[in-house]
Amino acid sequence: MGHDLPVAPTVRPLSNALGAEVTGIDLTTVTPDDVAEVRALLLEHLVCFFPEQRLTRDAHVALGRAFGDLEVNPNLPGPEGGPREMVELRASQGGIADEWHTDVTFLPSPSVMSIMHMVECPPIGGDTMWSNQYLAYEDLSPPLREMLEGLSALHDAEPHGKPDMKAHHPVVRVHPETGRRSLFVNTQFTRRIVEVSHAESEALLAFLKAWSIQDRFCVRYAWTPGAVAIWDNRVTQHHVVNDFSGERIIQRVTVLGDVPTGEAPRWDPYAPSRRGSVARHDTVLARDLRAAATLD
Ligand code: SIN
Repeated sequence: MGHDLPVAPTVRPLSNALGAEVTGIDLTTVTPDDVAEVRALLLEHLVCFFPEQRLTRDAHVALGRAFGDLEVNPNLPGPEGGPREMVELRASQGGIADEWHTDVTFLPSPSVMSIMHMVECPPIGGDTMWSNQYLAYEDLSPPLREMLEGLSALHDAEPHGKPDMKAHHPVVRVHPETGRRSLFVNTQFTRRIVEVSHAESEALLAFLKAWSIQDRFCVRYAWTPGAVAIWDNRVTQHHVVNDFSGERIIQRVTVLGDVPTGEAPRWDPYAPSRRGSVARHDTVLARDLRAAATLD
């Protein structure tokens, strides 16, 4: 007569870059062991997919709370009737969350973890893609890595209609648990690299934004109703593939974040040369830095 031994979950990696499908964990009633297991899996795979979970709203919020305090998104709506900690994105065509981003980097402490539940999928399409920002950093050449480690960037919520909601973060972030470095810029919210001129910032950001989402850094997940994705928001970007028609409803809770850390900036914020006239965007940079400092 033996005791029941815990059954290890089955983990199936979905790409060489990141992402694994996990079965054998019931997210509707997680135990402390399950939470520890999911945390460990996230450190390894960065995003984990759990098919067939079909969470109620309460179970979804309880799952989030098992990982930490939950954020109330300052910009995005929740489902009708709550709860406040839940964001609901509804679309019957693309255009919602279809730009590469890391959640809420316009906040001084962006969420550490996001937990998304697919309530209703379109019949075809509407997949989500994630990109591994450790690899995006580690695959750069040593000179570029060294320069980026000394830079910082302004992020803002302009795409949510709130351009004054700003935060200032390192361009290379150090993960507090793994100690690994990752790129920390994203297409949607990163606006300006602070220590270089406007023209240089535009060129560098255009390069980094395209570099960081290359196919070889990515995984693509085809949803089924009731599936849950949990990702480490500190080291990933994601976006919805805008190729569907038909109702798509997802609900998301996010776990409150830490302040992103990296090396201290190695240069002062860019100041225009004394000989040249002060360009408007550099005056704007000084104002934006003051604004981000007030919000931090
Ligand atoms: C999000 O940006 O969190 C939403 C992603 C999705 O709808 O797949």
